[in-house]
Amino acid sequence: MSGDLKWNKIIGAGLAVAFVIVGLPQVTAAVFHTETPEKMGYFVDAPEEAAAGAAAPVLPPDWGTVLPTADLAAGEQAFARCQACHTATAGGADGTGPNLYGVVGGPVMHRAGFAYSDAMAAHKAEAPTWGLDELDQFLTAPARYVPGTKMSFAGIRDTQTRVNLIAWLRSQGSSLAIPAPDPSRQPGAAAPAAPAEGEAPAPGAETATAPAGGPAGSAPITGAAAQSTTQTSPVAPAH
Ligand code: HEC
Repeated sequence: MSGDLKWNKIIGAGLAVAFVIVGLPQVTAAVFHTETPEKMGYFVDAPEEAAAGAAAPVLPPDWGTVLPTADLAAGEQAFARCQACHTATAGGADGTGPNLYGVVGGPVMHRAGFAYSDAMAAHKAEAPTWGLDELDQFLTAPARYVPGTKMSFAGIRDTQTRVNLIAWLRSQGSSLAIPAPDPSRQPGAAAPAAPAEGEAPAPGAETATAPAGGPAGSAPITGAAAQSTTQTSPVAPAH
């Protein structure tokens, strides 16, 4: 008797496990079926994000756009990591690195009394001014932009942090004007251009088909219907 009960328990336990194993994929499948439409709906936004993300490292910042909206307080905070070697106040002392007051837009090696490296002197011969782009590249990776520089600082990878920092540095004695916005530098500039080329043939093809298929009177209506369909279809997946 006790032996039979033991086997009943073992078989019962085995069946329970089997039910869970069989049932789980169905539960998972049910979950997946409800999620799939949501993912398709959001998928519309993904190419834009991907395009912006891909364009960001390639394009230099569009200073005319990013400087007016930069976070100066965050930039001042970011300067904390420079303060071991630099001051940025008017008349501030040179330390391990030169005082940086007025360096934005100023000449490379702007502090007459500071013992710059030969590498910095060589860089000055090629690029004599600390323009916004030059500073941005230097602060991204000092040793890559000025090989042999004695500024032992790894660099700041985050673009927004550099923008905030450069905006704050600019507020310390710089008279460099904010340049006009440059559309070719805006991350969105390249992204809409590609879909626009892809979409252009589609409405054109519909418009060309409509007058050929029906009488002249119905052509504008068909064209309008085709346009409203074209407008609705990108919106529908977004919901
Ligand atoms: C470990 C010390 C150190 C740190 C940290 C450091 N720097 Fe420097 N920096 C230097 C030195 C040294 C030089 C001179 C480089 C040379 O001559 O090659 C320099 C040069 C510069 C120059 C060029 C100045 C000129 O007159 O041409 C700028 C701009 C600059 N640093 C900005 C920064 C900023 C902004 C930070 C913080 C994100 C920073 N540095 C962090 C040591 C440092």
